Amino acid sequence: SYQPSPADKFTFGLWTVGWQGRDPFGDATRGALDPVESVHRLAELGAYGVTFHDDDLIPFGSAPAEREAHIKRFREALEATGLKVPMATTNLFTHPVFKDGAFTANDRDVRRYALRKTMRNIDLAAELGAEVYVAWGGREGAESGAAKDVRAALDRFKEAFDLLASYVLERGYNLRFALEPKPNEPRGDILLPTVGHALAFIEKLEHPELFGVNPEVGHEQMAGLNFPHGIAQALWADKLFHIDLNGQSGIKYDQDLRFGAGDLRSAFWLVDLLESAGYGGPRHFDFKPPRTEDFSGVWASAAGCMRNYLILKERAAAFRADPEVQEALRAARLDELAAPTLNEGESAADLLADRSAFEDFDVDAAAARGMAFEKLDQLAMDHLLGAR
Ligand code: GCO
Ligand code: MN
Ligand code: MN
Ligand code: MN
Repeated sequence: SYQPSPADKFTFGLWTVGWQGRDPFGDATRGALDPVESVHRLAELGAYGVTFHDDDLIPFGSAPAEREAHIKRFREALEATGLKVPMATTNLFTHPVFKDGAFTANDRDVRRYALRKTMRNIDLAAELGAEVYVAWGGREGAESGAAKDVRAALDRFKEAFDLLASYVLERGYNLRFALEPKPNEPRGDILLPTVGHALAFIEKLEHPELFGVNPEVGHEQMAGLNFPHGIAQALWADKLFHIDLNGQSGIKYDQDLRFGAGDLRSAFWLVDLLESAGYGGPRHFDFKPPRTEDFSGVWASAAGCMRNYLILKERAAAFRADPEVQEALRAARLDELAAPTLNEGESAADLLADRSAFEDFDVDAAAARGMAFEKLDQLAMDHLLGAR
């Protein structure tokens, strides 16, 4: 059955189901959703946990006593439902003070304020048991060339993350950071635009071991990239600390469709990869129920995210278990790719001495071999479509 349970580790941002449908062209189409109601609804649907930006839970500018009251109600809802908070993050993009960014804003006082806002929410994240802290730098970027000295901005970005890492270490929090790339929107161009940029940046930090990535399906697809390939590289680098699942149709504005909508074949390969790699983290949905929907549509959309994941998980398992697929994988020589290119202990000199590798290698015969990928891919298509 496709009934989700907490063991599936599905999580949702409070800002996803809580999105009121405000876009650059139109006003909100739905009222505000009480985080406490979201917690109860998501628990009823079978979710494992919820995540939040500071401002999703505690309206920006709340006085300290109000802040405590919001946290208390939320904590009570978590206790009543058993929902967990595996991740939290900071809103460093809505308030106009962040119009030129937060950690990389040209204005130094804005950068110091952004750090304080983040540290305050890190304390709350740790208190609520979160193990991952997401950093999406939505406003870190520019619309024009001279406006941002990108090398200086990267120095400031590194400075911010080095400080936050030392803060987490000093406090003894069990918290790691996950950087979320996005190529553009809301800025014309955002810093650390793809998984690859983020992975390279992490290696320049003082504590690279505390940093990984939180890739979002639609964001890589906005850049025309293959999402499962990016995820595979993040897994290979031991840097897949978290993931934002949603749907996107091609290179256009950030659609944040429910998971499974948009590029379905990519979603199939993604689930196949996560499940076969044994990814153990939360399956986190970061989507926006379209503004055409009322609240019943919101909960239908949230349920659809989980249902689609479970359907694809079942389809991917059937694909892997099918003897004809296993035969097709051998015909496509996936087993050969898994074997090292050199023999154990073989050196460059040994390779140079191996005439069969070059002098006697029949290049034309090797070039003539077909790879048998089409048959393999059609088997996948048949499984995805439920035709086998
Ligand atoms: C987007 C982003 C955001 C962030 C989230 C965490 O769709 O542009 O994914 O939704 O993930 O706000 O800060
Ligand atoms: Mn998005
Ligand atoms: Mn996201
Ligand atoms: Mn989003």
